[in-house]
Amino acid sequence: MFIDTHAHLTDNAFKDDKNEVVKKSFDCGVEFVITSGFNLKSSKEALKFAQEKENVFCSIGVYPENILELDDDTLAELEKMASDKKVIAIGEIGLQYTDNMPPREKQKEGFVRQLKLAHKLGLPVVIHCRDAYGDLLELLNENKEYLKFGGTMHCYCGSKEIAQSLIKLGLHISVGGVSTFKNASKLREALKEIPLSSMLLETDCPYLAPHPYRGERNAPFYIPTTAENLAKLKEVEVEEVAKTTTKNARELFKI
Ligand code: NI
Repeated sequence: MFIDTHAHLTDNAFKDDKNEVVKKSFDCGVEFVITSGFNLKSSKEALKFAQEKENVFCSIGVYPENILELDDDTLAELEKMASDKKVIAIGEIGLQYTDNMPPREKQKEGFVRQLKLAHKLGLPVVIHCRDAYGDLLELLNENKEYLKFGGTMHCYCGSKEIAQSLIKLGLHISVGGVSTFKNASKLREALKEIPLSSMLLETDCPYLAPHPYRGERNAPFYIPTTAENLAKLKEVEVEEVAKTTTKNARELFKI
């Protein structure tokens, strides 16, 4: 059995058939799905859907693109929402240094405020990072006291060395569809060196469907495809990937 540790089931792409998608995913060996918010609105939607569905949990938070909305009221609201037992992590939160993003200082400040919130609530964090691993590692090291409840680097695309630094901080490395892409040989080389005992599986659906479904709408039922690819890389049976990543996710998110 598998756990999809990062999905966006409340995305518009699933508006007509999310119940069917979830059912098909459970039929395909997915045991739990964690659906993720990225701002206050999507976090509320994620929680609502998780409340309605057995075996769907959620993470709530404000990610870089929306960080300017993170004020005291938003933080207080996230904290209130987190009292629901279906909220099992704070995220996705992080840094993104691509064009047209809010100022880096604002991103850093909002990220750290949410690290502190997660720590206060006793929850792990789900981290998003694009083109910002250097600053991210620096910030995480400065604030490692707030990482006591662990976390995951979602959609990991970095090097072996960065992964080792993240693991040293007690974080997990989450493997998604990108690891199956034809042009991702560098990432695959890194994944070979990262221990399975620190890995999780995810889709980040509706984005980033694994090969050979690349370009299609992604969904949790494609998790076994990513797992098979990872099993080949690690030269183990897919059952071992399933067993270990599921155990890791259950321990981290206390499911
Ligand atoms: Ni995401």
